[in-house]
Order: sequence, then C-alpha cells, then structure tokens
Amino acid sequence: MGALSMGGVYAIKPLSKERRPDGSPVTVQQGGSFSLTGYPRHLRRLAGRLGVPAGFPTSFVGTPSYFSIKKDSRMNMTTNTILITGGAAGIGLALARQLSERGNRVIICGRSEEALLKAQAQLPHVVTRVCDITDQASRQSMVNWLNTEYPGLAMVINNAGVQYRRLFTDVNALEYLEQEVATNFIAPVRLIGELLPLLKRQSQAAIINVTSALAFAPMADVPVYCATKAAMHSFTLTLRHQLKATSVRVVEMAPPIVDTGLGGGTRSGGAAGQQMMSADEFAIDALIQLENDQDEVLVGLSVGARKMGEALFERMNGA
Ligand SMILES: NC(=O)c1ccc[n+]([C@@H]2O[C@H](COP(=O)([O-])OP(=O)(O)OC[C@H]3O[C@@H](n4cnc5c(N)ncnc54)[C@H](OP(=O)(O)O)[C@@H]3O)[C@@H](O)[C@H]2O)c1
Repeated sequence: MGALSMGGVYAIKPLSKERRPDGSPVTVQQGGSFSLTGYPRHLRRLAGRLGVPAGFPTSFVGTPSYFSIKKDSRMNMTTNTILITGGAAGIGLALARQLSERGNRVIICGRSEEALLKAQAQLPHVVTRVCDITDQASRQSMVNWLNTEYPGLAMVINNAGVQYRRLFTDVNALEYLEQEVATNFIAPVRLIGELLPLLKRQSQAAIINVTSALAFAPMADVPVYCATKAAMHSFTLTLRHQLKATSVRVVEMAPPIVDTGLGGGTRSGGAAGQQMMSADEFAIDALIQLENDQDEVLVGLSVGARKMGEALFERMNGA
C-alpha cells in the first residue's frame, strides 16, 4: 500500500476501463485538499465506492490503478499580485475590476496618469504606475520597482495595445508604424524577458498575452495590427513550449470585438458593432476560462476564428 500525504490540491480522476491495469491500493492522507474531477456519473460512483462525500474530501482510499492522481496545477486566482499593462481603460480595466473583486492585488500601468487616476477612483484597491511600455527607461524603471515593492508578482497580463487603420493605396499608410509594432509586439516580448527572473521565483506564475480573433484571420483595413497579433500568437506558442518545465504558465487570451476605445472606437459602427460585447462581459467569460486552466482563452467570435483561420478572410473582408 502506497501513501501520498503531501500538501496541495490533487485532482483524482477515474481512468477509462481500457486504461486500468492491476495495481496495489494507495492511501491519500490529510495534508492537502482533494478534488474529484470527472463526469458527475463518475463522481457519484467514486464517492459511493469510497464512502466519502462528493466534492472536496480530506482523505481518500482507493486503488491507484483505477484513478489518475495528479497534483492540480490550476492557478490560484484569488490572492495573486498581478500586473495588467494598459489597465486604465477598456479590457484591461474590466480585467482589473474582476481580478480585484476576487481579492487579488492588481497593479495597472499606462501612459496617461489622468486615466490611471480615473481608474483608481473606480477601483480604490488597485495600484497604479505610469509607464510607457515602449520606452526602455520607463519600462526598466517599472521592472525595478516591481522587483523591490512587489517581489511576489505572479502574473503579468500583456494587454496594452494600439490599432491603426492603414490603406496602402494612401500616402500615409506608414504613419505610427513603429509605435504599433513596438506596443503590440516588441514591448510585451521585452517585458516578458525582463520579468521572467521574478516570475520564475514564484511557485505558480502566469504570463497572459492578449492577442485577438484577428491574429487568426486578418481584417484588411488594420493590416499591421493583425500582423502584430499573429506574431504574438506565434510567440506565445513557442514561449509556452520553452517554459513548460518551469512554474510559469503561458496563456493566450484572444478577445473578439469588444466595445472599447481601441483604434479610436472605430469598431463600434456597422456590422462589427452588432457582434460586439462589453469589456465586462468579456472579462467575466475570459476569467472563467483562465480559472479552468485553458492555455487559449477564446471568447465569442474568437472560437470560430481560431478554428477556421484564414478561411474566414473573404467572408470578413469581402471578395
Ligand atoms: N477592443 C477590441 O475589440 C479588441 C479585440 C481584440 C483584441 N483586443 C486587444 O485587447 C487589448 C486591450 O485593448 P482595448 O480594446 O481595451 O483598448 P483600449 O481601450 O484602447 O485600451 C488600451 C490600453 O493600452 C494602453 N496603452 C497603449 N499604449 C501603451 C503604452 N505604450 N504603454 C502602456 N500602456 C499603453 C492605453 O493607455 P494609455 O493610452 O494611457 O497608455 C489603454 O489603457 C489590446 O491588446 C487589443 O489589441 C481588443
């Protein structure tokens, strides 16, 4: 008889019939909490057989060959210290509100002090920091401040972003090109590199990169924006692969069309407007998926865009 008595949260899952070899019984003792995962039918059978109430028993006796017993790696989403870039408005502010209400310590940054103070008036527990993430000195100063003041930082949500319409048939197609690429791609990649040593020190940490449904299927009038989001999607996949043996989880969060000031609020009109959700609706849905351990948090239209990719291009942009 084996025994598991380590602390932590364990997921105990009944194996399918085909995957049940013979094995000796194991006892899981106090010292941790245990959650039974599986279908309700399994839960009822398992609870009945073990004589424990379904839900969160504190001790468990069973045959290991019939169950997979894994440490539950789900992120604690209630007492973390979390940085949200671009957290003073739109999606960032909605995420800040939801995460703050769950008891996390939330730090928001952005370029405009006025916008940060307005956000803080709504969410008094939120900590603010003026930072232009594209500016090396400003970003480095925030990273140093986080290391000193918030050494427990466990989550970074790379949310700050800008969007410009560009017609390459016009003369000003290249306006703000560097700023768009820097904000949406270079700065978050740099910030990740600069914060990784701190994140790796935590027993559980997460990097959440906010991309877009347009990372999978581009919209023709915001071509560079879509390319930066596709780049961030690709980078997120490879970063997750590189960090898989560390305590740092890497998540992509791809919003659909959300009612914010992005791109000067140009997304609110026409057909796009009809499919739009509010930033709060998005944040609530996205955080449920994050809590459920999803590597890719896809909301609304992003689900179809992820599946169909460029096959959607003509439907979105016309023939
Ligand atoms: N809304 C949508 O339909 C939609 C859809 C898919 C993906 N997204 C993505 O969601 C994220 C949030 O966008 P949103 O819709 O919430 O837009 P938003 O309302 O315009 O908010 C963007 C935030 O980014 C901040 N920001 C911009 N440049 C910055 C910089 N250099 N340094 C620091 N902060 C900066 C802005 O604050 P300051 O101006 O004060 O710096 C602002 O708080 C973006 O990555 C966007 O691409 C949005």
